[in-house]
Amino acid sequence: MNYRHAFHAGNFADVFKHAILVGLLEALKTKQTPFCYFDTHAGAGRYDLRGEEARKTREHEAGVVRLLHATRLPGALHIYLNLVRALNNSSGHHDPAIYPGSPLLASLLLRESDRAVLCEKQPEEAAKLKALLAHDARIGVHARDGYSALAALLPPKERRGLVLIDPPFEAQEEEFRAIEAALLQALARWPTGTYAIWYPIKLRHQPQRFQRWFALQKIPKVLCAELLLHPDNSTLRLNGCGMVIVNAPWKFDRQLEELLPSLREHMAQGRFGETRVEWLTAD
Ligand SMILES: C[S@@+](CC[C@H](N)C(=O)[O-])C[C@H]1O[C@@H](n2cnc3c(N)ncnc32)[C@H](O)[C@@H]1O
Repeated sequence: MNYRHAFHAGNFADVFKHAILVGLLEALKTKQTPFCYFDTHAGAGRYDLRGEEARKTREHEAGVVRLLHATRLPGALHIYLNLVRALNNSSGHHDPAIYPGSPLLASLLLRESDRAVLCEKQPEEAAKLKALLAHDARIGVHARDGYSALAALLPPKERRGLVLIDPPFEAQEEEFRAIEAALLQALARWPTGTYAIWYPIKLRHQPQRFQRWFALQKIPKVLCAELLLHPDNSTLRLNGCGMVIVNAPWKFDRQLEELLPSLREHMAQGRFGETRVEWLTAD
């Protein structure tokens, strides 16, 4: 495992993922009953944008920094950006010094009665995550494989909640197969949970087999969102990314249709830019 998220924190893919994550957590909060948030690939939780890794790639400059400087953004982005701003108030600098990972964002949105289960397999990242969040009684940090944790820990006692699956995709096709296997087990144990699965796009057609898999397995209510910022023939590692959401909240497609064009507009790196919101399966 060589992947270190610190090189990519706050890039366009993180903004896409985290803006959707915040929307999903806010949707859960529209009901008073407690929920549980699972993060199978949690990372370190917080990233230093002035650190060596971020300074090397500067990916956040074309991601979260662009949005923090933007005006006329849709309401769906305000909560996410305000959380980033709040974390950076004390830095005294114009551009953010800290970028929150998915566990930190979730911890800031959970209510007193909600809970989070965070899994991170890489020991150094897990130690950082523990130092950041393990003091919080609502949060359990597990230094373990996130896929096997799903089979072991689902369903949560709350019977409501969200699972974020955000792997490093070091081996692209194999990672999709690992997600499918874990999802089948998870859905058998907890069919009503919401599952959000992030994936990278290098070539436009690459995720299609994974997308078709949901219909083949007859998994209902699956929404898919994609943001592409570079054409297939670009030499970049990442041309876009997507999120598949199983048991998406009511009208979440409309929220995404408002959100994605704005992300494309503000984070475009050339003339190219495409977004897509589509139901892969119906009710
Ligand atoms: C893309 S990063 C996660 C970023 C995080 N979800 C966020 O949004 O801030 C993927 C993380 O998964 C970890 N990882 C890789 N394989 C894992 C596995 N099988 N189980 C749990 N964590 C894993 C990596 O060490 C890395 O920290």
